[in-house]
Amino acid sequence: ETNQPLKGKNVLITAGPTQEAIDPVRFISNHSSGKQGYAIAKVAYEMGANVTLVSGPVQLDPIKGIQTISVKSALEMFEAVKSQLDDAHYIIMAAAVADYRPENIARQKIKKKEDVSNIHMVKNPDILAYAGLHKKENQVICGFAMETENLEENANKKRVEKNCDMLIANNLFTAGAGFKTDTNVVTLFKGEEKIHLDKMTKEQLGVKILETLMEIEEGKTC
Ligand code: PMT
Repeated sequence: ETNQPLKGKNVLITAGPTQEAIDPVRFISNHSSGKQGYAIAKVAYEMGANVTLVSGPVQLDPIKGIQTISVKSALEMFEAVKSQLDDAHYIIMAAAVADYRPENIARQKIKKKEDVSNIHMVKNPDILAYAGLHKKENQVICGFAMETENLEENANKKRVEKNCDMLIANNLFTAGAGFKTDTNVVTLFKGEEKIHLDKMTKEQLGVKILETLMEIEEGKTC
């Protein structure tokens, strides 16, 4: 069917921030609202896909008709993604995953005494890089990159290092782009090709992303 071009496709999407606990009442996180990932999930569902959304803590309503797995930390997001990876055809990672977590989570609330100088941070697993490393023939992988400088260079580096078919770069300092807004302004790095897109809603961008991933898939099979 023309209006259900993703019928029979399993689409796995990550969205939102992760929260990395410091103690029972505090965490480290970022400004992701989940809007971009949820917008892609919604349009993928409307295009006929079976959608699984792995979502960090967000203030958005669940989307009817799709499977949502709610997680808090990067480690939880990693486990959830790994459990869904084998069956996924399109993998789109729009989550803002914390790169670091406190090595130890204090069991009790840390008391306000002196300055705290000893929260040791360790690296989180890179979920997108893991998916790229284990990519199967029938999988198309799309990552995002949030940058504040050297957007093209950094985005292309991430595309190559994380073995993505496409990487979508947004700049924190561009009006109408990135965190919390209903719109985004991005550049698609599709293989060696670079495509600048004007400001559009996160749903319009979702359609554009899914259509581009379908093109990439067609290019692989013919
Ligand atoms: O949620 P919104 O408010 O709508 O905002 C949307 C957004 C800005 C969060 C989104 O458009 C976006 O850019 N998401 C990626 C943000 C990010 O963390 O970028 P990064 O450059 O740190 O990571 C690069 C890629 O690797 C991303 O696909 C990320 O999901 C992935 N990653 C990063 C670290 C990690 N440990 N695991 C990952 O999978």
